[in-house]
Amino acid sequence: MADTGFKAGLEDVVALTSDLCFIDGKEGRLVYRGYDAVDLSEHATFEEVVFLLWYGNLPNAGQLKTFLRELGESRQLDPAVERLLASLPKTTAPMDALRTAVSLAGIYDPDGDAMEPEVNQRKAVRLVAQIPTMVAAFDRMRKDLPVIAPDRDLALADNFLWMLTGKRPSGQNAKAFDTALILHADHELNASTFSARVTAGTLSDIYSATTSAIGTLKGPLHGGANEQVMRMVDEIGSLDNVRPWLDQAFQEKRKIMGFGHRVYKTDDPRAVVLRRFSREMSQTQGTMDIFNRLEAIGDYVREQKHLHPNVDFYSGSVYRMMEIPVDVFTPVFAISRIAGWTAHILEQYHNNRLIRPRAEYTGPTHLTVKPIAER
Ligand code: ACO
Repeated sequence: MADTGFKAGLEDVVALTSDLCFIDGKEGRLVYRGYDAVDLSEHATFEEVVFLLWYGNLPNAGQLKTFLRELGESRQLDPAVERLLASLPKTTAPMDALRTAVSLAGIYDPDGDAMEPEVNQRKAVRLVAQIPTMVAAFDRMRKDLPVIAPDRDLALADNFLWMLTGKRPSGQNAKAFDTALILHADHELNASTFSARVTAGTLSDIYSATTSAIGTLKGPLHGGANEQVMRMVDEIGSLDNVRPWLDQAFQEKRKIMGFGHRVYKTDDPRAVVLRRFSREMSQTQGTMDIFNRLEAIGDYVREQKHLHPNVDFYSGSVYRMMEIPVDVFTPVFAISRIAGWTAHILEQYHNNRLIRPRAEYTGPTHLTVKPIAER
């Protein structure tokens, strides 16, 4: 058969050009529009990073003030979206609730079906502003707790933790959460962003593209891994059980969640930063138990399988220390990645070509239909 250039999982296939994000998988660098994401996480806020991804430059003080006001004023959900969230079974997975709420929000968007660039930009603002409100509101509704209205004057990270827990976050928690949001904001053509761009490439609307992306992020091989890491840590239960538990998993050829990456062949720079936060927050809270277990898991998987921890390995421990429930970890990923999804969707609209690859057909080609009695 002629070489079709087929690559399983599209590994290393370059599908499009983009100005947004660069990953150096060998050096372990992540770059947003020219800026190292680690540098941004130390010297900028999540909102500044959203601005950077959308508009191509960091905002000056005046631009940031206007942008924060725009985001703050867009946080409130349409009453129809609130009613939908309240009507869902309390057992609904928060990620499913989010996917459904985003889809409904598209129907009630004040700009309707319009697709002009400035309208899509306004819709992007509403998505970034409202996804945290959706996630927090559903978590409280399912627990029969009163929903907390967004506070337009708080930063996005602080406001989310406030709406979710009903407590103003400590400085350390607010900084750690904002940092996690920055580090998850974009990641080139990861699976969910690719989904978003495929949907946008048909000139479907921004809410549909985001709904596709949320469905893709949910899977345990992608954003869903952060939940699975904490479930693994809990199941392992103690330091003594780390090696026996992992030996059994290796024997059964199970994937260890939070390890490996399609692009990084060295330490994931996001994991390096989140590991530091995990250690520092554990020290503050006086509970090193989970962090020590993570370290032991990391050491043994590295030693046995030569795999590096990815972003999902430490994020869960950081979120848990902020009292975020385990099944809300992946929706939290969406609270951040909506920045990258919308930036990519807008970029796709700006220079669109339908994304439509080919398949290498492996079935028969010349069968003839037999009458039904002879089949
Ligand atoms: N545990 C055990 N073995 C692994 C792991 C892992 N986590 N990751 C890769 N491997 C092994 C595979 O078994 C395979 O070995 P083989 O060649 O002997 O069969 C080899 O490494 C290559 O792995 P693939 O799954 O083919 O690599 P791919 O690039 O397709 O997958 C992925 C990358 C999905 C991230 C994979 O490493 C994985 O499943 N990791 C666990 C899930 C996870 O943490 N996902 C989050 C990724 S980061 C993010 O999406 C935000």
